[in-house]
Amino acid sequence: MALTPKAFGVLRYLVEHAGRLVTQDELLEELWPAIYVNPGVVRKYILEIRRALGDRPDALMFIETLPKRGYQFVAPVIDESAAGTSSAAGTNRILGREPQLAELCLYLSRAQRSERQIVFITGELGIGKTALGDEFQRRARVDAPGIRIACGQCVEGYGGTEPYYAVLEALGQLCRGSEGESVVRILAQQAPAWLAQFPLLVNGKQGEPLQRQILGATRERMLREIGDVMETITSERPLLLVLENLHWAEPSTVDFISAMARRRASAKFMLTATYRTTDVRLAKHPLEAVKQDLLVHQLCHETALQPLQEVDVAEYLDIELKGATVPEGLAGLIYRRTEGNPLFIVAFLKHMQDRGLIAVENGSWQITSLKKVDREVPENLRRMIELRIEGLSEQEQQVLEMASLEGVGRFRFSVFSRAPIIDLEPEAFEEICETLYRRHRIIIPAGSAEFPDGSVSPCYEFVHALYRQVCSQRIAPQRRAQLHRRMGEWAEVHWEHLDESATVMAIHFEEAGDWPRAVKYLRLAAQTAGRRFEPQQAADILKHALELVKRLPEEEGAEYQITILEELAGIYIAWIRKATGS
Ligand SMILES: Nc1ncnc2c1ncn2[C@@H]1O[C@H](COP(=O)(O)OP(=O)(O)O)[C@@H](O)[C@H]1O
Ligand SMILES: [Mg+2]
Repeated sequence: MALTPKAFGVLRYLVEHAGRLVTQDELLEELWPAIYVNPGVVRKYILEIRRALGDRPDALMFIETLPKRGYQFVAPVIDESAAGTSSAAGTNRILGREPQLAELCLYLSRAQRSERQIVFITGELGIGKTALGDEFQRRARVDAPGIRIACGQCVEGYGGTEPYYAVLEALGQLCRGSEGESVVRILAQQAPAWLAQFPLLVNGKQGEPLQRQILGATRERMLREIGDVMETITSERPLLLVLENLHWAEPSTVDFISAMARRRASAKFMLTATYRTTDVRLAKHPLEAVKQDLLVHQLCHETALQPLQEVDVAEYLDIELKGATVPEGLAGLIYRRTEGNPLFIVAFLKHMQDRGLIAVENGSWQITSLKKVDREVPENLRRMIELRIEGLSEQEQQVLEMASLEGVGRFRFSVFSRAPIIDLEPEAFEEICETLYRRHRIIIPAGSAEFPDGSVSPCYEFVHALYRQVCSQRIAPQRRAQLHRRMGEWAEVHWEHLDESATVMAIHFEEAGDWPRAVKYLRLAAQTAGRRFEPQQAADILKHALELVKRLPEEEGAEYQITILEELAGIYIAWIRKATGS
């Protein structure tokens, strides 16, 4: 289970003192010795742990709150190491991927010996790239004690145009993780241009010299700095950097990977990067050429995932149907129809259950008839997902629609920020989310988000981007516009530092048809791109703003146009100066 290091620390302390009350002060003293932290953070971590363990407020099984006094771990605790059973690698949660896992573990052992490793995990949509990466992370934690793991996601569409978005997301995790302060210190020493991307981490004192230090920085310097930082961070403890969905990566993220692969210095550094083969090929994405070149020079590996085999499907059914006798011929049928694509297999089984085509009777699984299954289950995965969603209650569908829109947390959505948009109480919204998670497995819990007023909201995300797409495409254009407007307006009131989410805010107001506000946030987004030394991307964003300005009434439009053209000119001039060294 994924837990942030501090949350894990809290859980560990509670488990080690199971059965007795642990006060908030005790936790603060033990886990944050010698520094002052806002007591509210303890609550935040408890919430995160409860979500990870599946503790529900109405039926707590693990951690009990003793109001105003503290917390107590109430579940029975068994020490497996003392009992002589090893839980080292744990049981496998995925099937048919042992060779790939062994390969990844081999690369990890080289990374531990300071040979940097760049690994692309590739394959079609739903083939199991993320699942393999997750399982590998679990093993890495066991095989390489002390390893740090940081993940960043590339996102689709216009929201994915922010330079280095995924890299910064991962870096942000390192800065906030255990020993995060030392990472921030290293950034301050070796990578001021990167530290400047985290206004929240830079306190007032550092701010000004920092601005001076990064004057005259360039994109080459950005790449050099981050390379230095990664080598310093990984001189002792290994680091596994996970970058997901690179088929949506913007150019600077690809440059980052290429630069990391080509550096010579030794580092306990491993990068796994996933992407969809077909999408990259069709879009003529620069990634393909970069990977080929790295492969030729033996600077990277590729783990290309193939479909699962029929035996894997049979084993999957065995596990999912809890050891009951699996109806004859079912594995073969599912294998033929899904061509061994795991995402399709999972949805196929869920669909059969939803439709009552397969059900428990007298303690064993019964299937209506294979012929009927063959006839009634749709041919393609997208259609199957549509049908699954159509079968949900109206309110569940509404929550999913709401959840599918890109917001300030990108594709991770918080209950507090989405519930008011469709006039639901947060508790009601969360309850529906829980059903969509537990019963339907369409969304899954994804940590929590803290709002400027100190409140902490649970978050969820879709099990797979395809589910999000299907939900999003079901929304009628007018309703989409209305929802985006409300989301934008809600964010303006409730979030701080909106300039950090400028791209997303621009999407809200553009979708809402509110051109002046869309333009405002596009200009902010261009500034951010400029701060990351990506003139090309900054210029593209401003050009997009110019397109929107055309839709404004003439006089108002003309004024905006001049401002944006001036900003665009500023970018070009700086760009030319840098290119000519003048
Ligand atoms: N080897 C596997 N065994 C069992 N289930 C798998 C396996 N690989 C993937 N899955 C399941 O299939 C679904 C899609 O996998 P995912 O890793 O998200 O695909 P993608 O390649 O698009 O990242 C997930 O629900 C995942 O749990
Ligand atoms: Mg994936």
